[in-house]
Amino acid sequence: MKHEIFEKNSMVLLIGILIVVSIGGLIEIAPLFFLSSTIEKVQGMRPYSPLELAGRDIYIREGCYNCHSQMIRSLRDEVERYGHYSLAAESMYDHPFQWGSKRTGPDLARVGGKYSDSWHVEHMQDPRAVVPESVMPGYPFLAKRKLEYADIGDHMKALQLTGVPYSDEEITQAKADVIAQISPDTPEAEALMKRYPKAQVRKFDGIAAEQPTELDALIAYLQMLGTLVDFTDFDASGPNIR
Ligand code: HEC
Repeated sequence: MKHEIFEKNSMVLLIGILIVVSIGGLIEIAPLFFLSSTIEKVQGMRPYSPLELAGRDIYIREGCYNCHSQMIRSLRDEVERYGHYSLAAESMYDHPFQWGSKRTGPDLARVGGKYSDSWHVEHMQDPRAVVPESVMPGYPFLAKRKLEYADIGDHMKALQLTGVPYSDEEITQAKADVIAQISPDTPEAEALMKRYPKAQVRKFDGIAAEQPTELDALIAYLQMLGTLVDFTDFDASGPNIR
C-alpha cells in the first residue's frame, strides 16, 4: 500500500497537499494572465465629464452609497424594476466602484432620466416633499454651497494614472468644461459634448448663476447614471459568440 507513507508521515502529507493544491490553483489563475481584460468592452462607455465627476465625489462624500446600490442584478424582479442588469463595463471607470451593499433606498444604476431636474432639486431639499413616506435625509445645503472644483484636473490626472483614458487635453480643459456643462448653447458646450458624448448641458439646479453649486454637480451625475450604453443594440452574448 503506497499511500501508507502519506498516512504515517504528516510532513510528506503536507507537501503532497501543497503540490496538488498548487496545480489546481495554477490551472485556475494562469489563464487570467493571458487575457488582456476580464471586462468586455461595451459601446458608449466613456469616462465622466468633470462636472459629473465632481458630482460623484459629493455622492461619495455624503455617503449616499450607505443606502443606495448601483448594481442591478440579473434577476427578473430587478430587471423589471430597474432595467437591464448592470454590466462590468459600466463601472470600469469608477474608482472606487459604487456597487454598494445596502439598499435602504432604490438602486440608482439607471436613475438617469427617470425624473426631471426639478424633481431632484425638490427631493434633495426635502425628500418628504415629493415622497411622503421617504426615510431619506434632506440635503438642503447642497443648493447653497458653491462647487469647489479648482483641483478637478488633478483628480482626473490621478484617475488617468489608474487607467481611465482621459486625454491630456481633457485634463487641461477640465475647469473650463465644468462651466461649459452648465452653459447651454455656447461653443464651449459643443466642444464638451464632442469630448464627452451624451453629456447633458444645462443648469441642473435651476439657479441662474455662472458658478455651479454642489447640487448642479450631484444632479448632473444622477441624470447621467445608466444613460451611456444603448441597450436597444446591445447583444449580451458578446460580439464573438454568434
Ligand atoms: C438613510 C438612507 C438614505 C440616504 C443616506 C440617501 N438616500 Fe436616497 N433614498 C432613500 C430612500 C428610502 C429612497 C426612496 C424614497 C424616496 O424617493 O425618497 C431614496 C430615493 C432616492 C432617489 C430616487 C430613486 C428612485 O428611483 O426613485 C434618489 C435619486 C436618491 N435617493 C438619491 C440620493 C443621494 C444622491 C443621496 C446622497 C446625497 C441619498 N439618496 C442618500 C434613502 C437614502
